[in-house]
Amino acid sequence: MTKKINPCTLVLFGASGNLSRVKLMPGLYRLDSLGRLPDDMKILSVGRSPVLAEDWQAEVRKMLEAKFYNGLDETVFKRFIARNHYQENGSDDPEAMNKLAARLNDDSVFPQNFAYFLSIRPVDFASVVEQLAAVGLTDDSKYWRRVLIEKPFGTNLEKAQELQASITKYLKEEQIYRIDHYLGKAALQNIMLTRFANHMLEPLWNNEHIDHVQITNNETLGVGDRTQFYDSTGALRDMAQSHLLQTLALVAMEKPADFNPDSIRAEKIKLLQSIRPIDKASLNKQAFRAQYKEGHVPARDGHSEHVKGYIDELGKPSSVETYAAIKLFIDNPRWKGVPFYVRTAKRMHESSTAISIRFKKAPMELKEGQQQNWLILSIQPKESLKLEMQTKVPGLDIATRSISMDGQLRQATDDSVDSYETLLLNLMEGDASLFLHIDEVQAQWKLIDPIVETWAADKTPVHQYPAGSRDPKESGVIFESEDQFWRYSIELGGDQH
Ligand code: BG6
Repeated sequence: MTKKINPCTLVLFGASGNLSRVKLMPGLYRLDSLGRLPDDMKILSVGRSPVLAEDWQAEVRKMLEAKFYNGLDETVFKRFIARNHYQENGSDDPEAMNKLAARLNDDSVFPQNFAYFLSIRPVDFASVVEQLAAVGLTDDSKYWRRVLIEKPFGTNLEKAQELQASITKYLKEEQIYRIDHYLGKAALQNIMLTRFANHMLEPLWNNEHIDHVQITNNETLGVGDRTQFYDSTGALRDMAQSHLLQTLALVAMEKPADFNPDSIRAEKIKLLQSIRPIDKASLNKQAFRAQYKEGHVPARDGHSEHVKGYIDELGKPSSVETYAAIKLFIDNPRWKGVPFYVRTAKRMHESSTAISIRFKKAPMELKEGQQQNWLILSIQPKESLKLEMQTKVPGLDIATRSISMDGQLRQATDDSVDSYETLLLNLMEGDASLFLHIDEVQAQWKLIDPIVETWAADKTPVHQYPAGSRDPKESGVIFESEDQFWRYSIELGGDQH
């Protein structure tokens, strides 16, 4: 169902940064091409340097051409570029915010409902909100005014609470949109639908039938040019604190009373708050970290590419993890005793984000080591659902083998919508259901902080794994039982060991 969007102005802070180039501008152009932007919607890009209007328009064209290399639709481009404006907001100009306000207040150009997208350094979130408020730009008495805050929301629980306290001086909760772009992925939204729109899963979705759950994000990519950011963050805070705990919440939460945003968020919050924080004393059995060294990763052309180790990229010693695996337990009757393994790593042998659910042993074991049933919800690169079962090998003997039912979520004619496109649209529509409530953010930090603190204080050398390899064998220390192992590729007959 298409929701109505009031005429509005999207104000992009950090407009020349990477996110804007790769996701936001192309996403807005796509929304325009799909006819999803209101006619009189405008985009005001805010950047540090002085840029002439025509130069900015040329720059936007470059951003789009880099993404849509098959060419742009000139009719759409003409409409899109006419929406685009640029405003300099130099950090050493004390009048910068007043100038921005004067520009935006011109309602002959800019519709007065404003959505601010803060794609800026996290340390600047609070001060930008304060400055917007000081010049009246957050006042929502006549028009709506919304602020989207990129991740990370704080760097630990205390910092998240400080940020929350400072922005809520000026904004009401319904004006704040804390983004987690994973929630905009169709395959993630599908978790809830798969669970609750099918009868056969719900009766099995508990500790009586499920042995364990793995929530995995593996990337072949390294940290790239984000070394400084990454070294102050690490894999656990970068991926697990946000995207993977949200994924876990969708897999494990109770059925909401209805599909209203508030009901869904209430169930996610309850779930996140019932995950037991890892006790520092048992950390070595519940969390494992490692860092990639040089090695070979799959390259686009099908060959492999030699890549540097993390330390070489960073240029100084560091114990920051590029691999993190943790084991969590949920203290509620449904999940009592079921381990949830959450792992994320850069420079692995494959890129894959998936939820792998292993069921308990079958009542009949015909051969030793008979595979258990697995249900795999693949988020990317494939969006699919795969169920593995044991069946009889045809012939005279009684023997079993695994077959798999593999369903693609996406059909050739389906729209392919990037998560940022969904979330940008939701922001303008005023639909916060795919954004984080502060209680979720806090619950997530409470789980992650003790691990990060313990790792930071631990001076023993960090385990190294060659770029392009599978999980370090030593990571198996966190498994609850000896017959558990990391699931990899979801292809039929894919690696299982
Ligand atoms: C970002 C992390 O939030 O998510 C990156 O900062 C990570 O390190 C990225 O690569 C993964 O997102 P996606 O959508 O490519 O899985």
